Amino acid sequence: MRYFLGIDVSTTATKALLMDEADAVVGVAAAAYAYETPRPLWSEQQPDLWPSATIKSIQQLLAETGVAPDAVKGIGLTGQMHGLVLLDKDGEPLRPAILWNDQRTAVECNEMRAALGKQRLIDITGNDALTGFTAPKILWVKKNEPEVYGRIAHILLPNDYIRFKLTGKYAADKAGGAGTQLFDVRRRDWSKEVVAALGIDSAWLPPTFEGTAVTGTLTTEAAKATGLVPGIPVVGGGGDQAANAVGTGVVAEGVVALSLGTSGVVFASSDKPIIERNGRLHAFCHAVPHKWHLMGVMLSAAGSLRWYRDTLAAETSFDALLAPAADVPAGSEGLLFPPYLTGERTPHPDPLARGAFVGLTVRHTQAHLTRAVLEGVAFGLRDCFELMKEAGLARVTQVRAAGGGVKSALWRQILADVLQTEIVTINTTEGAAYGAALLAAVGMGIFESVESACEQLVTITGRTEPGEDTAVYDQLYPHYRHLYPALKPTFTAMADI
Ligand code: XUL
Repeated sequence: MRYFLGIDVSTTATKALLMDEADAVVGVAAAAYAYETPRPLWSEQQPDLWPSATIKSIQQLLAETGVAPDAVKGIGLTGQMHGLVLLDKDGEPLRPAILWNDQRTAVECNEMRAALGKQRLIDITGNDALTGFTAPKILWVKKNEPEVYGRIAHILLPNDYIRFKLTGKYAADKAGGAGTQLFDVRRRDWSKEVVAALGIDSAWLPPTFEGTAVTGTLTTEAAKATGLVPGIPVVGGGGDQAANAVGTGVVAEGVVALSLGTSGVVFASSDKPIIERNGRLHAFCHAVPHKWHLMGVMLSAAGSLRWYRDTLAAETSFDALLAPAADVPAGSEGLLFPPYLTGERTPHPDPLARGAFVGLTVRHTQAHLTRAVLEGVAFGLRDCFELMKEAGLARVTQVRAAGGGVKSALWRQILADVLQTEIVTINTTEGAAYGAALLAAVGMGIFESVESACEQLVTITGRTEPGEDTAVYDQLYPHYRHLYPALKPTFTAMADI
C-alpha cells in the first residue's frame, strides 16, 4: 500500500494527514500554536513555529498509524493564504510573518491603486487591493522597516516556507501565488507589470508550480527530523481554500462550495479566469492545473450565531436555541439582521461595517432574533452568489455545504430557500489537508486527474431542496440589500465618535 501526506500550515495549528492509495484517510495529527496581535489591526506569527509543528505532527502521525516511512510516496502542502514571510540570503526569517487577517495596510492598498490604476490592478491580478493580501504588506515593510526591507532575499508564503524547510527549494504553488496579488491571474504567474510598479525585486519571488507538479524532494535533514525517508516528492499543492475545494470535489464549473464556519466562504471553480469588474470577488488560480476560481468571503457567518448565543443566551445549547426558530415564519416577521459583526469583505470590503437588528417590535421573541441571524447570514451569502452571476459564472448546478453551521437542518433549509438551489452535504470532511494529500496522489500518477480522483472519492450524503419559503425570501432580499448603503454613513460616523 502506498500513502500520501497532506500538510496544512494553518493559522492555529499545523495538521498532517495520511491518505492511502485506496483513498481512505488513515490518520490525522496536529500541533497547535498561537498568533500575536502586538498592536491594534496587526496579526503576526513566528515562522519558526511551523517547522517544529510540522515535525511534531508528522512524527505523531507515523507513530499513531504505524505506517512505514518508506510507504509514504508523496507530500502535498497547503496553508493559510496571503501571509508574508521574508527571508535573508541564508534563508533565515527577517521578522515575524504578517498574516492574512492583518489589517494594517489600508494606506498601502491605496498606494497600489495609485501605482497601477485601480482598474488595471483588478484587470491583471483579478482583485482590488485588500489589506489581507501579501503585496501591500511588502510596501508596509519598505516604508516602516527599511532595515528589514534592505535585507530581503526571498519572499514566501507560510506553506512555501515549510516547502523550503522540507526540500531546500524556494518554490510557490499557483493558487497561493495568485493570493499575493503580484500575479497575472490569467497567465498564472508573477506579473512583471505589477511587480515593477510596486518596486519589488523579481529575484525575491520563487518559481511557481501547478498543484500536482513536483517542486522538490525531501532532504536527508528533513527526513531525519520528521522520521520520513529522503527523496519523497513534494508537489505544489495550494492555498487552504483551493486545497479544501479539491478535498470536497469542487473542481468543475457549476459546482460551488459553501463553507459555514466562523467566516462564510463561497468558492466556485471555473474553467477560464472570471474577473468581477469592480474586484468585489476574489479571482485566483485553482490548485487544479489550468483552472481558476472565484471566491466570496463573509467575515461573520456561523461566527454571528456564536456571538449571538454567547452574548444573549450563554446557557443555551445551539440545538435548544435553534429549535423554536423553526416555528417562526420565514422573514422573522419583519426582522432583518445584516451580519457585519467584524466588518465585511464580500461584497462590502469595509472594516467599519457593523451588525444590526433592523425592524424590532415588541412582538419579537428570542426565537425571532435567532431566526433573523440565520436568515441574515443566508442573505449575505446570496450577495456572493449574485456577484458571481454578475461576473459571468454561467450556472450553479450544485452547492456543497460544509462547516459547523451546516449541522442545523433549519439553517440548511433557509440556505436552500434563500439561495434558490439544492444544498448537498458530502462524505469528505477533512478539508484542506485531505485536498493536499489528494494533489500529491494525482501528482504521483495514482489518479489520472484531480477531476477523476474527486469523482471517485466524493459522494453525496444529504440533500436539501428549496421549499415553499423561497418566494418570501426573494421578496425580502432587495430590502436586506438596501441596508448596507443605508447604514454605511452611520457606521462611518460612529467610528469617529
Ligand atoms: C483566504 C483567506 C483565508 C486564509 C485563512 O482568502 O484569507 O482562508 O487562507 O486560512
